[in-house]
Amino acid sequence: MYTLVKGTNDVILNEAEKFSYIENMLYNLASLYNFKEFRTPILEYSELYLRSVGNSSDIVRKEMYSFYDKANRSVSLRPEITAGVIRSMVNNKLFFEQDFPVKAFYLGPCFRYERPQKGRSRQFTQFGVECVGVDNYFRDCEVIILAYICLKFLGFDTIKLKINTLGDRKSREDYKEALRKYFSLHVDKMCDDCKERYKLNVLRILDCKVEDDKKIVEDAPKIKEFLSDESKLYFKNILKTLDEYDIEYEVDDHLVRGLDYYSDVVFEFHYTSKKGVDYGAICAGGHYDELVLELGGPRIQGVGFAFGIERLVSIMNDDNLFDNVINSGIDLFVMPLGENAKNYSFYLCNLLRNNGFKTEICFESKKMNQMFKKAERREAKYALIIGDDEIKSKVYKLKNLNTKEQIDVEDSKLIETLDRLLSHGEDCCCEKCASNKCSCNDKKE
Ligand code: HAM
Repeated sequence: MYTLVKGTNDVILNEAEKFSYIENMLYNLASLYNFKEFRTPILEYSELYLRSVGNSSDIVRKEMYSFYDKANRSVSLRPEITAGVIRSMVNNKLFFEQDFPVKAFYLGPCFRYERPQKGRSRQFTQFGVECVGVDNYFRDCEVIILAYICLKFLGFDTIKLKINTLGDRKSREDYKEALRKYFSLHVDKMCDDCKERYKLNVLRILDCKVEDDKKIVEDAPKIKEFLSDESKLYFKNILKTLDEYDIEYEVDDHLVRGLDYYSDVVFEFHYTSKKGVDYGAICAGGHYDELVLELGGPRIQGVGFAFGIERLVSIMNDDNLFDNVINSGIDLFVMPLGENAKNYSFYLCNLLRNNGFKTEICFESKKMNQMFKKAERREAKYALIIGDDEIKSKVYKLKNLNTKEQIDVEDSKLIETLDRLLSHGEDCCCEKCASNKCSCNDKKE
């Protein structure tokens, strides 16, 4: 037996269906906002991440899966997708026509060598968007609102949006200078990571989670004291728009984000499950003003976010948010009684599938009670029982596995009857239909 690589997971069976459910939802909503899909390689030259995520970030310093290929070039498994998407926009000359903004969405695995724990793995899946060629705050709002809508559609009602601004370059440089001055008086007493951060990027210290350091961080100067008038107004306009759309937020002075490319607005969505588990940020993003330029493109700005799909799945499992939205059962379980019936049942099974019914057939068991147990495990709504008599008379036994009620159905009426019994949606009166869980027979008048 081979074990999994530490920090990786198999996503299989019903769990995989949950991933697909979330991914489809995010895919559809991003398309509604006119984002187009980008599929970029998982493997990129390491240099890309040094230039974008930044060599002062924990990701580049400690977490990248980097190695030399056979031509001795350093390559890395992507720790995030923004950099690859921007590289691809530059390489494919998407900025050439100046038809801005270019709007991308993406989905795929990322890799970070972190300590695996709840909500944190070494291989994880991101879904994100990037809107590039941004020259007004409405684009930032559009992206934040999209993330918010995605969470609402998935059923998250108590989300917390933390938001901050890092200002423009000048504001940030002034702020960093003030932080350096302040922390120079305290850094000797702080954790080793903070000592390192002080040298590499003093902003990062604001992110420190060590209890003793928090008090020192608390009293540090705040970015708002250093913002240029332009940066202040930009941020104010974003907050005003969020107010107008009733999106609640908390301005968090210490939110600086762990990647170096951000400027102006940065944000994170947090959620604590009903059991009280805090999964950290389930979605995070922000604005970047020099990333495109840094990666060889024109001087244009962008904004984006990424969701961690595994975290969404864990929370939705914890808070039962998949109930009523995922139907992993089947419509029909066809049960052939005896060898002769197998061929005929196989034909019927294909006919049913061709007519849109989710159908499975039982070739493997001979005894009725075993077949019913199998049907139950497959969450079948109906069993279709086919023996020699049924083949001869062309009248089949159809059993509702929920009510245990059994009816005879003529071959010529089979599809029509099933359509009626299994009908969901528009022509059914039942409220449960919205969730595709309905098995009532009542039609709308
Ligand atoms: P990030 O905050 O590094 O940002 O990651 C985004 C999301 O990915 C996190 O909020 C979290 O849900 C998920 N995530 C990160 N690391 C792990 C992990 N080890 N295990 C499970 N989930 C994880 C970015 O990656 C930026 N590229 C986001 C962005 C897009 N900014 C602008 N555009």
